Amino acid sequence: MWLGTITILVLIATTNSKLVDLSERGLKKEDFFMKIQTQFNLQEVTDLILQKNEFDSFLDCSTNLVNLRTLDLSQNHLQRFFFLCKDEYNLQVLNVSHNKLEYIDNNALNNRIPKLKILDLSWNRLSIVNETMLEHFKVLEYLTLANNPINNGIHENAFWNLKVLRYLNLSNVSSSYFSSEFFKTLTNLSTLDLSENPISVIPLLPANLEELDLSNTHVSRLRGIYLPGLRELRLNGMKNLTELLLNDFENLTSLETLSLDGSKALTFFKLSPFNDHILPRLRRLSVRNCGLRTLSHSLVSIIKRTPILNLEDNPWHCDCKMQWLSVSNATKLASRQIKCRTPKQHANKQLSEIPSYELECEDDGSMFRPVLWASVFVLVVAITMAVGFFLRRPLGRWDIRRKNRDTVTYTNVDESSNDLVRILAVNERNEE
Ligand SMILES: *[C@@H]1O[C@H](CO)[C@@H](O)[C@H](O)[C@H]1NC(C)=O
Ligand SMILES: *[C@@H]1O[C@H](CO)[C@@H](O)[C@H](O)[C@H]1NC(C)=O
Ligand SMILES: *[C@@H]1O[C@H](CO)[C@@H](O)[C@H](O)[C@H]1NC(C)=O
Ligand SMILES: *[C@@H]1O[C@H](CO)[C@@H](O)[C@H](O)[C@H]1NC(C)=O
Ligand SMILES: *[C@@H]1O[C@H](CO)[C@@H](O)[C@H](O)[C@H]1NC(C)=O
Ligand SMILES: *[C@@H]1O[C@H](CO)[C@@H](O)[C@H](O)[C@H]1NC(C)=O
Ligand SMILES: *[C@@H]1O[C@H](CO)[C@@H](O)[C@H](O)[C@H]1NC(C)=O
Ligand SMILES: *[C@@H]1O[C@H](CO)[C@@H](O)[C@H](O)[C@H]1NC(C)=O
Repeated sequence: MWLGTITILVLIATTNSKLVDLSERGLKKEDFFMKIQTQFNLQEVTDLILQKNEFDSFLDCSTNLVNLRTLDLSQNHLQRFFFLCKDEYNLQVLNVSHNKLEYIDNNALNNRIPKLKILDLSWNRLSIVNETMLEHFKVLEYLTLANNPINNGIHENAFWNLKVLRYLNLSNVSSSYFSSEFFKTLTNLSTLDLSENPISVIPLLPANLEELDLSNTHVSRLRGIYLPGLRELRLNGMKNLTELLLNDFENLTSLETLSLDGSKALTFFKLSPFNDHILPRLRRLSVRNCGLRTLSHSLVSIIKRTPILNLEDNPWHCDCKMQWLSVSNATKLASRQIKCRTPKQHANKQLSEIPSYELECEDDGSMFRPVLWASVFVLVVAITMAVGFFLRRPLGRWDIRRKNRDTVTYTNVDESSNDLVRILAVNERNEE
């Protein structure tokens, strides 16, 4: 079957590169090494795509790969691969993702492929990355180990030699802790993905990062991040993040995109004390599908100057605390995205459709009620004391007399309409 399809082999010859695409042909290694490679001149090939086949191993010795720059063996059944037979290869891109690699042999990633720039090891079964596995890759720019069950099996010096690395993906490697040594030497790192790991502490991060993903981690507080070049921060699905004080981001002065989608525990989101210089470059803010009930007025300047906002799917409580959003044109846009869940009379309405005077605060009443009761109590106490004062006659006689003398003027007005005056007048009479 594969012999028939060989005629439709895609061979693209440009000035200096030759691509052979043999993906999705059900090839086993025997088919390739014994039959197919005799059909064309493999030593001229620069890009060899063997994606989605059935290789269980790959050995360079069986073929001639002098000019090879890109080798894509992704989505096979690889358990091992080797670069053994030639002193040095020109290989720059190696994709062995979606395979069955459990460990990386010394004969796989070694000093024979020192020109490697891109290495994709994601979606395998690696459980260890030791300190020598990546030591030869002095020009490596892109490395992903995502979706391997490494647990805490990455040696803290595993990346120490990758001085020009710009992209590192450690998403879903089951690590609960990243030592501060990990990223120490990665001065040129610009993208780091630590998502889907059960970490609760943010490790020491390289200062030149531009893109950071901490989604689906157990981090609960984001204090003390100093990343003045960071442009994008993803904090989606943060289970343990209950409150976010934007003041914690005062040292993220280049941040353009902040997303917190699906962080269901997030109920507290504000800027306090108010600081208009927080996140000066923010272009996109997304808090879709979180646990927010209200939007603090302290966020007014952020809401006004961020062109792309997503506030959908939160349990918004539309009361007087949200009134500020319908006041100015700049915040009206935001209020159109706010679909109220409570109180009952506003359920499923857009905040922007509700007239300002209908945004009432019932809760505030209960907040003020204690104050009201306290005042009433003070008043009652005062009256009781006053009454007590009047009843302690032996001591208060002189004062009462004086007061009674004052009331004499009232008796001229209309005694019958003023009970107090009458009582006092009676008192005075009795005393005399
Ligand atoms: C490696 O191959 C997989 C699928 O076969 C692809 O999704 C991935 O983007 C490739 N990696 C790189 C670095 O190109
Ligand atoms: C790292 O692992 C490889 C392959 O498992 C092994 O050959 C090598 O000796 C290990 N290096 C160290 C320092 O343990
Ligand atoms: C994480 O990796 C494991 C394999 O180690 C895989 O089964 C799982 O689907 C991955 N999870 C995500 C969210 O990609
Ligand atoms: C870091 O990256 C920049 C931009 O890609 C590059 O110009 C510079 O040479 C790199 N630094 C090192 C030490 O490789
Ligand atoms: C990291 O790898 C995962 C799994 O392949 C992918 O979904 C994610 O987009 C990658 N992260 C970045 C920043 O490219
Ligand atoms: C921001 O950086 C300054 C100076 O390094 C530091 O004093 C301050 O505590 C940092 N702020 C936060 C929220 O980490
Ligand atoms: C994070 O939340 C989970 C439950 O969602 C809890 O078991 C765990 O202890 C929390 N971790 C931290 C560091 O708060
Ligand atoms: C607000 O928008 C309305 C309609 O788009 C417009 O007529 C009005 O001038 C705007 N007000 C301000 C202060 O920009």
